[in-house]
Amino acid sequence: MKSTDTVRLSLEGVSKTFGTNTVLNGVGFAFEGGTITGLVGENGAGKSTLIRTLAGAIEPTAGEITIDGRPLPRSAKAVIDAGVSVIYQELTDIPDMSLLENVLLGNLTARGGVKRQAENRRRARAGLERVGLGQIDLGTAIRELTMAQRQLAEIARCLIRNARVLILDEPTSSLPEADVETLLHVVTDLRAQGIAILYVTHHLDELFRISDRLVVLRDGHKVAEGPTSDFDEKSLVRAMLAKDLEQAYPYRDRRLGKTVLRVENLTAAGSKGNSVTARAGEVVGLVGLAGAGRTELLRAIAGAHSVSSGSVSVDDKAVPTGSLGKALQAGIMYAPEDRKRDGLVLDGSIESNLVYGDYHGVSRWGLLNFRALARKARDVAQRYQVRMYSPSQAVGDLSGGNQQKIVVARLSEREPRVALFDDPTRGVDVGAKAGIYDRIFDLAERGTAVLVCSSDTDEVLAVADRVYVLVSGSVVAEITRDQFEREQILHLSAGGNATNGTFTS
Ligand SMILES: Nc1ncnc2c1ncn2[C@@H]1O[C@H](COP(=O)(O)OP(=O)(O)OP(=O)(O)O)[C@@H](O)[C@H]1O
Ligand SMILES: [Mg+2]
Repeated sequence: MKSTDTVRLSLEGVSKTFGTNTVLNGVGFAFEGGTITGLVGENGAGKSTLIRTLAGAIEPTAGEITIDGRPLPRSAKAVIDAGVSVIYQELTDIPDMSLLENVLLGNLTARGGVKRQAENRRRARAGLERVGLGQIDLGTAIRELTMAQRQLAEIARCLIRNARVLILDEPTSSLPEADVETLLHVVTDLRAQGIAILYVTHHLDELFRISDRLVVLRDGHKVAEGPTSDFDEKSLVRAMLAKDLEQAYPYRDRRLGKTVLRVENLTAAGSKGNSVTARAGEVVGLVGLAGAGRTELLRAIAGAHSVSSGSVSVDDKAVPTGSLGKALQAGIMYAPEDRKRDGLVLDGSIESNLVYGDYHGVSRWGLLNFRALARKARDVAQRYQVRMYSPSQAVGDLSGGNQQKIVVARLSEREPRVALFDDPTRGVDVGAKAGIYDRIFDLAERGTAVLVCSSDTDEVLAVADRVYVLVSGSVVAEITRDQFEREQILHLSAGGNATNGTFTS
């Protein structure tokens, strides 16, 4: 691409106010074709809101956005036609349709005709080739693809619509580790093809690897901007948080009590003959590659999957398997990885989400005590560092990372006997991760047995007393904290053999 037709997107004095809350405050910066700009900031800093203004989804209260010097149109459709596409964290594809149909969504050359169809296939193929999916059969159903492939197909869909500006909001936060590499590779490839890329993530290491420039938002203000090489991890975090990060993850030595959770030979969808235990006060980690069955095991214990054999007990009492309700009665609670799908009532207020199904302490004679409810919500929000304006605000209006804190808070505040956390820090900023684990440690200290998994193995190793390594649906090793060796655990996760200090079951 010649430098004369390099696209340039520019923001000047962009502000956005919801009611009386100013979420973006006079933000200005520009980015152009052939570059990757990283946009970073704490949960609630305004990143997604900024993106929604660029996408034409919301109208800025003030300021100007231009593309190649001309005002960016103010409707979502017109923005796409102007060459600006946004990839959100949640996929928008339609799983039952074919790859071809999905890629052509919104792009279909109208009315059949053999020639048109051939043209459609050619365009789809060309788009898919640009994201490295040229080899996949166009008739493949979307649901048969991996998450990364689906995300890449969404990018292909944008490219077919002649996107020259691509904006990605936390694209890797729901991707398994191995797929992150593929996505980063494609994104740098698109830069080489002349696309202007704005990339939002809480994984700062990704930005140091691929971005050319960084823009830092704090409280809706742009507080720093410059070439990535001007920053290091420490200075970037300081710009984001306005302070140094004391520790990424806490660990506290705890007194472990008796075994609370005992799972024996559990076989369910994606989980083969697994035996695990957790003691009162213990934080037990599940480690494994994508698809190794971490989530499946947690879900089976939580009663979300029907179980073909094996048993679960809590405090030596058998828990009927395959029933969420029975597991809950036995004190087993599960915080799902997909907060949008089965974690929260997005239309509901923060207060109601926090007490959902548990009105203990906030009701009297069967009536909800609204003052007590608001007080409790305020107290929880403070302890979990939830950034909100009011406890009656809809959860759906909170930023992604702050919704995640509500999921963790709601479970922890109910004091379960067994707490199952599936990726509790997904989408949470570097400053707030430690806070989440601090609360999880509080819970453990009060005697709860905790099981946790994360897409970040280092995170699990930093916080767990003991880990189980899973490969292809089965536990292959159990390792206690004093024996943690990162390299060896990664080796085992990849299907390698145990050497010393571990056992293979
Ligand atoms: N429709 C809305 N009504 C009221 N407030 C809103 C609305 N949408 C967003 N906000 C508020 O704007 C602020 C910024 O949210 P935004 O989603 O932009 O943050 P973010 O930087 O993307 O955070 P995260 O890293 O957690 O995704 C938050 O305090 C949020 O509650
Ligand atoms: Mg966001």
